[in-house]
Amino acid sequence: MPKITFITHSGEHRAVDAALGTSVMHAAVDNDVPGMVGECGGSAMCATCHCFVDAQAFPALPPVDENEDAMLEGTASERTAESRLGCQLIITEDLEGLIVQLPDNQI
Ligand code: FES
Repeated sequence: MPKITFITHSGEHRAVDAALGTSVMHAAVDNDVPGMVGECGGSAMCATCHCFVDAQAFPALPPVDENEDAMLEGTASERTAESRLGCQLIITEDLEGLIVQLPDNQI
């Protein structure tokens, strides 16, 4: 299982083993990482899985599609160039070592 490191808004580092085929959102929620909510369960309808990912470091990440782009316009914390919805990032072996920063607020 790929190791994903979450950095909470308070600076806590939490490295978790993420099951293949799940999502970055589930990897955080299933491991009780604070700062990830995932209210809609991964349907790209709530934006409470907002996170910041260095896409340049991980070209295997899928591009932001139209729906994700629209949802990212409504995040509780300000969107940046590194903003993604964690539920839209499916865990693959290529994501080994991914570092995900979490925003200060999801709601
Ligand atoms: S969990 Fe709701 S948009 Fe990702």
